[in-house]
Amino acid sequence: MTNIALLGLGVVGGGVAEVISQNNDTIARKTGEHINIKYILDLRDFPDHPLGGRVVHDINTILADPEVTVVAEMMGGSHPAYDYTRAALEAGKHVVTSNKEVVATFGAELLRIAKEHHVRYLFEASVGGGIPVIRPISSCLAANELTEVDGILNGTTNYILTQMIQASKSFEEALAEAQQKGYAERNPAADVEGIDSCRKICILSALAFGKLFSPNGVHTEGITAITGEDVANAEAYGGVIKLIGRTGLVDPSDPASGVFMLVAPHVIPHDNPLSGVDDVFNSILVRGNAVGDVMFYGRGAGNLPTASAVVSDIIDIIAHKDAEIFVPDWTSVSADELVAQQTLPYAFLVRVRIDATYDAACEQIRSVYPGVEILTNSDAYASVLSFVTPQTTESELKDALSTIGEAVSLIRIMPE
Ligand code: NDP
Ligand code: HSE
Repeated sequence: MTNIALLGLGVVGGGVAEVISQNNDTIARKTGEHINIKYILDLRDFPDHPLGGRVVHDINTILADPEVTVVAEMMGGSHPAYDYTRAALEAGKHVVTSNKEVVATFGAELLRIAKEHHVRYLFEASVGGGIPVIRPISSCLAANELTEVDGILNGTTNYILTQMIQASKSFEEALAEAQQKGYAERNPAADVEGIDSCRKICILSALAFGKLFSPNGVHTEGITAITGEDVANAEAYGGVIKLIGRTGLVDPSDPASGVFMLVAPHVIPHDNPLSGVDDVFNSILVRGNAVGDVMFYGRGAGNLPTASAVVSDIIDIIAHKDAEIFVPDWTSVSADELVAQQTLPYAFLVRVRIDATYDAACEQIRSVYPGVEILTNSDAYASVLSFVTPQTTESELKDALSTIGEAVSLIRIMPE
């Protein structure tokens, strides 16, 4: 039997307790051992929970107990989650986590500490909820030079956008539903402002390129500025708006060419499989120089899907408990080392305010972008013109717009 401790009995921690309770015999059949949740650390007591008697309020109870070999951290936030994780690793306990804030901020250091203490620090649940993506990238795609990782990485925002577009719900109504379903962060600003996706793309980038870029300083846009007009324009162009995290080599054939990374709403053309990823589902596309494109798809948030990933990490530890597993070295680097996103090639869906007649406005745009696709028709024109540029860069576009009019919105079109 393996004794473990849960830190946090909220949405994910509650899901982990439920999965272990339901599937313990199945787990034992696969690993030869049952899992025993010996302690649950939380701020509150849970008198009505079946494991309520195991709740403790002092981390030292767990750290001091040599029977506890695995700690599952699901409290959220940086502190004390980082401090407890570090202390558990230093006490010789394996740690698994769903906390992407800690992994994206302190992952390089915590992996090093784990290595020094011959224990493991695993974080399958930190990206993509229940989707197996961390271990497949680290193991099954290890033969590849990875060149790009793109994805819909946040269940809450994808749920909100889907409900706004397909069910005509308001932003507030859709966000409230996502919170009620347990998808959202405690402070949902982290979801809707793109911060959660940013943490996740930093983790994926570290897996792909070995450098953990600091999430602070990565270009990050959320979905709060997306309007009904943007949605309608995307549809008129032939796509749908999704919040996307992207990272990759600027020149896929040259690993020294530099890494780019950004989080922003993108128009996903209908022929791109990411366009059909709706509601709480996430999807991650990984491009390797041997395998080509691989896509991962599944529920990106929620108690049981995320618990599936947390418990799979615990099982991996039990299954390999006598083995010395290779631990990757990540280097922590500043986001200043990223290639400037303003220089990335993109076509843009643009709304711009121009004080001119429809024909004059169209002429002005065409003089700058001869290949432009104008979406607004003359009947609908009221000083705001919507169009899709040919491939350009954000820097060039902003220069061009300064001579045309006031930009109302710029949304990137997802490249092929
Ligand atoms: P919850 O807020 O539902 O649960 C967190 C639990 O930890 C709460 O019971 C909280 O107690 C407790 N807690 C907070 N601080 C402490 C502390 N200092 N000591 C002891 N207990 C503490 O969060 P979630 O379960 O939703 O998320 C947990 C982590 O998993 C986060 O990092 C989140 O980003 C991540 N995650 C969440 C997913 C989801 O679908 N919800 C999916 C994937 C990852 P109290 O309520 O009293 O404050
Ligand atoms: N708030 C996160 C999301 C939880 O909605 O994707 C899963 O990481």
